[in-house]
Amino acid sequence: MSSQQPPQTQTVLSLGLPFMDDNHQEFDDMLSQALLASDTELLAEWQALINHATLHFGMEDEWMAASHYASAKNHQTQHLVVLQVMLEGLQRGQQGEFDAVRQMVCELKNWFGHHTQSLDAALALHLRSVGTRPEDGFVPSPNNRHWDRRGGGIVERQPR
Ligand SMILES: [Fe+2]
Ligand SMILES: [Fe+2]
Repeated sequence: MSSQQPPQTQTVLSLGLPFMDDNHQEFDDMLSQALLASDTELLAEWQALINHATLHFGMEDEWMAASHYASAKNHQTQHLVVLQVMLEGLQRGQQGEFDAVRQMVCELKNWFGHHTQSLDAALALHLRSVGTRPEDGFVPSPNNRHWDRRGGGIVERQPR
């Protein structure tokens, strides 16, 4: 795999919310890096993707809950299923099935492009419609929930 040409640099579709776009660009960059990983690097790259996806998907799930998003269930289910498949991929990789993991990296990259342009785009539209602050992801809601990237989780915060 290391003899392959690097994939073309891609610009992930901007959804008009920098706190989402940053996450998506980071995930896409990590996927591109995993496509180039050697056998000795592959499992670490895959584990890093799982770690990122856990946080990234969890963050979106929290935004959906905080803003009472009507289409949350379908979106959250897709996140859950993909994470389960990624964990199965880790097990297969740990058993030496590197080709299976490489196939999953390709499929995940394709899925991610579709997901960003469909479900994430719809979520971004909703978040903007309820007045989410583009600069930091503060979601106006009864709980005043806010994504704090520095803390790595959702924290309760009063609006400014
Ligand atoms: Fe996303
Ligand atoms: Fe999503």
